[in-house]
Amino acid sequence: MKYGYFDDKNREYVITNPRTPWPWINYLGNEDFFSLISNSAGGYTFYKDAKFRRITRYRYNNVPMDSGGKYFYIKDGENIWSPGWKPCKTELDSYECRHGMNYTNIRGEKNGITANVLYFVPLKTWAEVQKLTLTNNSKTVRKIKVFSFIEWCLWNAASDMENFQRNFSTGEVEIEGSVIYHKTEYKERRDHYAYYSVNVPIQGYDTDRESFFGLYNGFDEPQVVAEGKPKNTEAHGWSPIASHCIEVELKPGESKDFIFVLGYVENKEDEKWESKNIINKKKAKETLAKFNTTAKVDNALADLRKYWDNLLSIYTVNSGDDKLDRIVNIWNQYQCMITFCFSRSASFFESGIGRGMGFRDSNQDLTGFVHQIPERARERIIDIASTQFQDGGCYHQYQPLNKRGNNDIGGGFNDDPLWLILGTVSYIKETGDFGILEEMVPFDNDISVARSLFDHLTVSFDHVVNNLGPHGLPLIGRADWNDCLNLNCFSNDPNESFQTTENKTEGSKAESVMIAGLFVVYGRDYANLCNRLGKHNEAKRVQKHVDKMVDVIKKYGWDGEWFIRAYDYYGRKIGSNENEEAKIFIESNGWCTMAGIGKEEGLCNKALNAVKERLDSKYGIVLNNPAFTKYYIEYGEISSYPAGYKENAGVFCHNNPWIMIGETVVGNGNRAWEYYRKICPSYLEEISDLHKTEPYVYAQMVAGKDAFKPGEAKNSWLTGTASWNFYAVTQYMLGIRPDYDGLLIDPCIPTDWKGFKATRKFRGATYRIEVVNPNGKSKGISEVMVDGKPHKSNLIPVFGDGKEHSVKVVLG
Ligand code: BGC
Ligand code: NOJ
Repeated sequence: MKYGYFDDKNREYVITNPRTPWPWINYLGNEDFFSLISNSAGGYTFYKDAKFRRITRYRYNNVPMDSGGKYFYIKDGENIWSPGWKPCKTELDSYECRHGMNYTNIRGEKNGITANVLYFVPLKTWAEVQKLTLTNNSKTVRKIKVFSFIEWCLWNAASDMENFQRNFSTGEVEIEGSVIYHKTEYKERRDHYAYYSVNVPIQGYDTDRESFFGLYNGFDEPQVVAEGKPKNTEAHGWSPIASHCIEVELKPGESKDFIFVLGYVENKEDEKWESKNIINKKKAKETLAKFNTTAKVDNALADLRKYWDNLLSIYTVNSGDDKLDRIVNIWNQYQCMITFCFSRSASFFESGIGRGMGFRDSNQDLTGFVHQIPERARERIIDIASTQFQDGGCYHQYQPLNKRGNNDIGGGFNDDPLWLILGTVSYIKETGDFGILEEMVPFDNDISVARSLFDHLTVSFDHVVNNLGPHGLPLIGRADWNDCLNLNCFSNDPNESFQTTENKTEGSKAESVMIAGLFVVYGRDYANLCNRLGKHNEAKRVQKHVDKMVDVIKKYGWDGEWFIRAYDYYGRKIGSNENEEAKIFIESNGWCTMAGIGKEEGLCNKALNAVKERLDSKYGIVLNNPAFTKYYIEYGEISSYPAGYKENAGVFCHNNPWIMIGETVVGNGNRAWEYYRKICPSYLEEISDLHKTEPYVYAQMVAGKDAFKPGEAKNSWLTGTASWNFYAVTQYMLGIRPDYDGLLIDPCIPTDWKGFKATRKFRGATYRIEVVNPNGKSKGISEVMVDGKPHKSNLIPVFGDGKEHSVKVVLG
């Protein structure tokens, strides 16, 4: 069953039934000020950091799900309703939610009144604008009342949920005209406040939550709204909110706009106050003045649309398959931008409190957005590398507000350093900016020990070289990409986190074949980079280590039919036919085939066939098989999950593309695309009831074949799945791949495709690419024409001339 449809022209997903199987959300803002918003107006707002600078409150895991948001209540006689259906849940005559590129438009209609709310964060603005349009479609004059509602969070989202003995006494507000200011803790150590306003005079307001709702009522029945009369309360402690009341009269056919602004201000110490206890409102008023008319708001929305037109014009495909085109051209790129902004911090599965920006995550995410915002990718690389340690090791994450590494979800994951090579190389290939390698970058944010970014790559590579185990394979440390393969943790205390508990690496023999494959891929990239920089000795040194690793993998990482996954603490195989459970894993087979290890001897084909036979399922490739059915203390969290979920034999959409790319290495386009369609959300729209999460974005995990409900997705939006699928489909399957000296065109498509067209803007020129497939091939090129003339290779040069160039590639 479907709950809406794609409107590709407007780049929107249009939800027509508010009872989606799970809140289907969107993100507003793309720089400093952000909101999450569901299809029924649930969600919250923060400035930069969802943990430390939360502006509005949200209740997780509530009953009902998705409680709290940016609500409007319309009181029309005895009828009370909300444009987004919730929280009132009054049956609407019509409902529509359009999630677009950083804006959401929710429209509800009841008894001849339409309420349309456009929510967005204008570019370069620390505020969310909400344009409410009320229209009278009936034949009589109508008098209605509108109540707005948001609930303030006391800034630190973690202590906001815990420290009630303090919190209930700290809340402070100020009200001036139609603007409600939230200034809790402003008089002591904070330099910031928030505000919520509307651009018309109001009939009244409320700022005390219990007075507004009544102590025993939920979001669905605010007492003030039921009584139709604001109480003009001023919050002192307890739970401050902001609600405006506006009385509206509408003639038949008349429409009126009301512009609400939810904003954030920072003031310097000596500019904090207007007078004693009265906050300096200058900056808030400046922002309000920018958005106080419909025309100004419409212009700001037009600017946002232009911004996205531009971002999404850099890579477009025209394949004739709507489902593919809309995901590649619109939604996958959008999701990549969202993961750039939020890493794994704030979604409807990530609380915004637990996790900041991941070292490995952010590097992988970069491959999905570097073509859109290279300057910000550059800054991100420097930020990430600045948290690295001198020996190449890493904090697993850092906090966006202060850009410092922290140990909240551990460290010592031995794959982490290698991803910096991926991030940096992707950036240079896109931009040609080798200068970034000379940037001086601190270690552990300590500028006194700064070294060049190139040196950071060296220590990243050497971190693996310096941490090899008994077979010569990389030691795993706390875990590798698979956070849950905790081979040194031996945890028997349910109160400790697998991610942060003590790591018994001393004397451990636990090695990772996945890191080995990763090392071969990014070691080669690093060697290649060294050669380009004329550092031939370093390149030779690196190549030696890589060649040796290839031999080691063939000798100790091959199980006869597939690549094994790891060796445990005691040096026993994991992911081998010898094992009773989890005989085979996806990750090592992905990385070793991507690296082409043993391709000539047929190892890659064998491994990929084993994956097909044992791991493939109707809803994608599961992570391991058979699933673990009991807890293995020597394997850790992976075996803690019930069979078929998450890292224990779930379909991890993040690593399915590794197999797709592996399939392109051996030229099997049919299989690569078959895998792609199984997990690509636009192909799953029809089974939304089962799939549950948004049909316009990828989910991290879909329940695997051993699960209770195979095909049910969880953890949509913030996942490496976004960038890896984009990377796989655009660079290896459609095969348009930036390289140091040009754009490489090397598609691997299904044999029954006749071809496709694509446009790629690259280093100052536009490439109009046409791929034709007259002989039903998957891969291999027989002819290349550039600007109508034969071209000797499929590496199309950097033109940088601001012009358009036609590229025709014939498969054969
Ligand atoms: C999850 C992983 C996640 C890790 C870090 C684990 O419980 O299964 O997917 O990366 O926590 O928070
Ligand atoms: C989610 C984490 O963000 C990512 O870093 C990790 O690789 C996967 N889970 C797999 O465990």
